[in-house]
Amino acid sequence: MAEETPMKEDVILILDFGGQYCHLIGRRVREFKVYSEVVPFDLAPEEIEALDSRFNVKGIILSGGPLSVYGENAPRCNQRILDRGIPILGLCYGHQLIAHIFGGKVQSGAKREYGVTYATISKPVGVLKGLSNREKVWMSHGDTVYDLPAEYETLAYTENCPVAAFRHRERPIYGLQWHPEVVHTENGGRMLKNFVFEVCNCKPSWVMEKFVQNAIDEVKRIVKDDKCILALSGGVDSSTAAVLATKAIGRKLTAVFVDHGFMRIGEPEFVERTFKKFGMTLVHVRVRERFLAKLKGVTDPELKRRLIGEEFVRVFEEVAREVKADYLIQGTIYPDRIESGFKKHTEKIKTHHNVAGLPSKVGFKKIIEPLAGLYKDEVRKVAEKLRLPEEVVWRQPFPGPGLAVRIVGEVTQEKIDILSKADKIVTDEIEKSGLKENLWQYFAVLTDTKSTGVKGDSRAYGYVVAIRAVESREAMTASFANIQYPILEKISMRITNEIPQVIRVVYDITHKPPSTIEWE
Ligand code: XMP
Repeated sequence: MAEETPMKEDVILILDFGGQYCHLIGRRVREFKVYSEVVPFDLAPEEIEALDSRFNVKGIILSGGPLSVYGENAPRCNQRILDRGIPILGLCYGHQLIAHIFGGKVQSGAKREYGVTYATISKPVGVLKGLSNREKVWMSHGDTVYDLPAEYETLAYTENCPVAAFRHRERPIYGLQWHPEVVHTENGGRMLKNFVFEVCNCKPSWVMEKFVQNAIDEVKRIVKDDKCILALSGGVDSSTAAVLATKAIGRKLTAVFVDHGFMRIGEPEFVERTFKKFGMTLVHVRVRERFLAKLKGVTDPELKRRLIGEEFVRVFEEVAREVKADYLIQGTIYPDRIESGFKKHTEKIKTHHNVAGLPSKVGFKKIIEPLAGLYKDEVRKVAEKLRLPEEVVWRQPFPGPGLAVRIVGEVTQEKIDILSKADKIVTDEIEKSGLKENLWQYFAVLTDTKSTGVKGDSRAYGYVVAIRAVESREAMTASFANIQYPILEKISMRITNEIPQVIRVVYDITHKPPSTIEWE
């Protein structure tokens, strides 16, 4: 029987010109049940062809960006991309860039506009279909489009911006000076929806059930009759990847739980208890001494991450050799890739151990990352579809290198013991207080500062522990949580009473940015 070709998913690509709202555009599109991918602005036409073999590339959005089209290093996309006949929507910088590339008149810094303004829609067609004559929009721009080449027409203007929206007279190319992706643009959702459905003709078919089925099929297709190992940490990402992979390849999968010793109290037992129920082959590797020895004398956080990442992979390779596996499956998700600087033009923030911390020569045919296109809340939806226990679905994230990146400076067994006890106290108290549901993460950090205090009647000298609790949607940004003093007081009293080496407890009141969530 002929093999059935799976239906290709429609995708909208977002060319990232460095705008802070790039991922917001991507998420808005996904809210319409259409898949989107944020890609580098200088994507080559050949890369679109490669994408086209997996998806139907139905539209391209050029994002905003901080630069002027006249700036020395002004990012430009490959013009051949605009000429392929794929519908294009330029937003802010993208709007100016299209006008600039095709010979319109763009002027730098003449009249700046920031914030809410009103646009007069002179022609409510295409992206602006169904909108009223006057629309509340949000703008933030220095350059302005003043004139368009003959093949283009103006669709809207504002007081300071004669060409606030345009379209090509024959081809599906649109530009909006404002940001439809932000909530302050009252009908921004409608505009994006118009682009996605009216202009690009996308089908609203990207639903989690389908994602799950496609991901299962993809893992099956790659692995065939080979064997696989999977890095199972017990967090929602790797757990979801593990259950997906079990559905795809069953006993050909060996899930590997590496106890590197930087775990929370009770973690190994939790993982064994939970995943045995899913009928997967689970190997529990106890290698605490090995990891601790690797980190001896290491204080630099990036080096810690890299060494742990490398050791992780070595351990996997050893298990893989034992079970004769050719593939490694990982629970990497979209933000991990972004923050590890996977895109050519993104500044690297941290090397997350499960991505860029990998040594260049890994002993696997391929590393498979079935969740690499998903944001955290989407992973949770997948986890629910796969019927993972609620405890796992709503678990707070825990970094791969574990407590090692919550111990500032050198990691020693004594520090791990102190921190894991402090962490347990924070977790218990936050969970008892009922605050858990509102928090993204809550944990303790062992700083490398020592401080003076009084215990009993004598002077004491010991560690300073910091408490970190944040609210966030997907870890790209976060705010410190407003925890009531009595709860903090309880935590502080318990830590200083129950852990003799700790003399002082402080609460971290920094948002991300400028801080990151983890201290290292
Ligand atoms: P940061 O500290 O970068 O953390 O604001 C963002 C999210 O990522 C988690 N994190 C990690 N996860 N390996 C991981 O698997 C890592 O090295 C790592 N560092 C941070 C962090 O807990 C937060 O949820």
